[in-house]
Amino acid sequence: MSTILKANNLTKIFSLGGLLSRTKITAVDHVSFTVESSEIFTLAGESGCGKSTTARMILGFEIPTSGELHYLDQNIQSVKDKKAWFKEVQAVFQNPFESFNPLRKVESYFFETVNNFHLEKNEKRAEQLIEEKLQAVGLTYHEIAGKYPGELSGGQLQRSSIARSLLTNPSLLIADEPVSMVDASLRMSIVNLFREMRDSFGVSVIYITHDLATAYYISDRIAIMFRGNIVETGSVEEVLGNPKHPYTKLLIESIPQPDPHQQPKTLIKFLEEKEEYLRKGCKFSGRCPEVMDICKKITPKDVLIDGVMVKCHLFKTNTGKSEE
Ligand SMILES: Nc1ncnc2c1ncn2[C@@H]1O[C@H](COP(=O)(O)OP(=O)(O)OP(=O)(O)O)[C@@H](O)[C@H]1O
Ligand SMILES: [Mg+2]
Repeated sequence: MSTILKANNLTKIFSLGGLLSRTKITAVDHVSFTVESSEIFTLAGESGCGKSTTARMILGFEIPTSGELHYLDQNIQSVKDKKAWFKEVQAVFQNPFESFNPLRKVESYFFETVNNFHLEKNEKRAEQLIEEKLQAVGLTYHEIAGKYPGELSGGQLQRSSIARSLLTNPSLLIADEPVSMVDASLRMSIVNLFREMRDSFGVSVIYITHDLATAYYISDRIAIMFRGNIVETGSVEEVLGNPKHPYTKLLIESIPQPDPHQQPKTLIKFLEEKEEYLRKGCKFSGRCPEVMDICKKITPKDVLIDGVMVKCHLFKTNTGKSEE
């Protein structure tokens, strides 16, 4: 395995209420992580924790306030040939009905990508390439030819979106909540496609979700985000199987139970998002069941325990809990 993407202290500050507003939130706060070749790396956390902003910086839609992004040995921000970068990194978004204009035929998106990146020289070859990628996601060209987005199901449209993202043979796919708008019965089959892409084409995937069940199923490694920080990151088995950070524990306990009579043990209370973003010390201290005095004053540092990075004052050394 080799590192293909490295985020180093990646930070994005937004002014709330317009550019001249004095209230600023650090939507992504000195976030560091790596994505290895052929791995599924998940960014998970509840709404408004900075997952999409992180993705948007990688995709070049937002400029980082500070920090760096490296693809292989290159700093992405200083890459002159942006097109080469956009060929390597492709995106799949949440709502397939928003990704496709209802008045444009679905196939036109495929031909547009082929033309933009000069992938094939003539229409026949382009069609072969499109067919190949559609087949990789369980569709055929015949099924989409001549159709408008409204004539396909949500599942078919999201598969089309994934097929289109594969046209350039990217090394990294960024999938931001790719199944949350897809019918629950189809979710697993679509999520499975990312595993197939990893295994067949060696593609790495940044999978963004608030759904820990699919994350557990497909991820190699996972990072749990809370209000702009990665609070815990490591292998998915370790982080979700043996959670250390109180926030990770809370998220796991909040997964709805299949039995409708059994309520989740803890329901996440949505506090004012801004209030948490602006909180001093640990941003989770306002609702942490294990909060200590220090948490309200000092931002915890990252501590490595058993291969898992945890950002929490409960942990000080490699031997486990703090003696304070
Ligand atoms: N352009 C913007 N201007 C101001 N604030 C923004 C902007 N984009 C995002 N934010 C704020 O940054 C924070 C993180 O937002 P982000 O969209 O990255 O969260 P998320 O984890 O993707 O959430 P969700 O699960 O709801 O998609 C939120 O408080 C959001 O309101
Ligand atoms: Mg988002």
